[in-house]
Amino acid sequence: MKKSNSKIWGGRFLAPTDEIMEEFNSSIQFDKILYIEDIEGSIAHSEMLSKQNIISKDELELIKSGLKQIELEISNNEFNFSVKLEDIHMNIENRLIEIIGEAGKKLHTARSRNDQVATDIKLWLRKRIDQIELNLKSLQRTLIEKSEIHFDLLMPGYTHLQVGQPVTFGHYLLAYVEMLGRDRGRLSDCRSRLNELPLGSAALAGTSYPIDRHFVAQKLDFSKPTENSMDTVSDRDFAIEFMSSSSLIAIHLSRLAEELVIWSSDRFNFVKLPESYTTGSSIMPQKRNPDAAELIRAKPGRIFGNLLSLMTVLKGLPMTYGKDMQEDKEPIFDTAKTIELCIVNMEGMIKNLEPVPDKMMEALQKGFPTATDFADYLVKNLKIPFRDAHHLTGKIVLLAEKKEVALENLTIEEIQTIVPNVDISILDILKIESSVSKRTSYGGTAPENVLQAIKKAKRRFLKD
Ligand code: ARG
Repeated sequence: MKKSNSKIWGGRFLAPTDEIMEEFNSSIQFDKILYIEDIEGSIAHSEMLSKQNIISKDELELIKSGLKQIELEISNNEFNFSVKLEDIHMNIENRLIEIIGEAGKKLHTARSRNDQVATDIKLWLRKRIDQIELNLKSLQRTLIEKSEIHFDLLMPGYTHLQVGQPVTFGHYLLAYVEMLGRDRGRLSDCRSRLNELPLGSAALAGTSYPIDRHFVAQKLDFSKPTENSMDTVSDRDFAIEFMSSSSLIAIHLSRLAEELVIWSSDRFNFVKLPESYTTGSSIMPQKRNPDAAELIRAKPGRIFGNLLSLMTVLKGLPMTYGKDMQEDKEPIFDTAKTIELCIVNMEGMIKNLEPVPDKMMEALQKGFPTATDFADYLVKNLKIPFRDAHHLTGKIVLLAEKKEVALENLTIEEIQTIVPNVDISILDILKIESSVSKRTSYGGTAPENVLQAIKKAKRRFLKD
């Protein structure tokens, strides 16, 4: 008997595919999650084929009912996926032919898996981006609500993880609201750039059938068809943009997570994490470990890894499609899933996070955070140049350190041993509350500013 290859594309082959190669070549194990988008795309494509009289109305109806049946079979876990059929596109097409016969063989007219796969990924990613944006917005809302409760709660603001100047907890939380706002902006930029329809670019050169790409674009809610068929089938930069936007989200969340780890540690004790987001130790009964925060701190590892992996796959790849591009999917899927989980878990932690004001104040007092205010006072009231004021203030800090008291607990006599002509109004300057309430410059930490910033953040980020 003559040897042959039974694949959809097997006509010109004499030998069957090696089983080891079949396994290696297939993507069905991971691209099956694209089934809804693949069917959505095929329905729009076949509607266009019928409108353009490339297939008949009856054939269109058969194709649509077959595809709907397949969608049900897959969602009910009744579909038999096969690595022999390589990917989701051919698994579905093959099943369609099984169900409806001849008409099924016409679905692939005027398209290729190259424009099909690009369309599927874009449709899938668009949904994920919309969901991630919603998750970010919800996290922003939770941060804003917390900051409203604690708009005037005093805590140390750090540089170099050393106490710098006092700030409010509300102001600190709003810093993350800003970061996440920029993250949302990046995602929506990415979404609008990717929102062009690949279908109709066919294998790489377009097609000779009288297709209507604008019709398909409209059906699938793309802003327009892509402009160049070669670019279209080889473009994955939208995925790189998504993964780099996700990397920035991961960076921001990991910083917040790291602070939660440090602050919930027994040395700091600035915050209590909700029990529901911590775990016990299997051996040390006293422990309550910040696992959720630690995982969020660690996840940039895989998110950056995914980004780097796709960048490496695409670099130097000759135009247009190369099988290399099948390697795009796992990093994209994993990134979307991971970043969503990070955001949702972070929100869970923030929702029931409880600050511990006494501990924050204790750290403030130990850190001499009003030293800058003292130096500024000398400049403004005694006309001492800032550099000299800085030096004199250093001496005051040394004195407080020696006496083991907070700056605000030094007596006026003690201060006058270093700066003889200060009067008692300086004592108020050294108070932590007064330092904070004076920071009214635009974007500063004064509680009255924070209240304004909260109002504005609600308008900027939470409307509709
Ligand atoms: N499974 C392939 C992928 O994910 C689909 C496109 C295949 N195209 C081709 N010409 N072999 O990239």
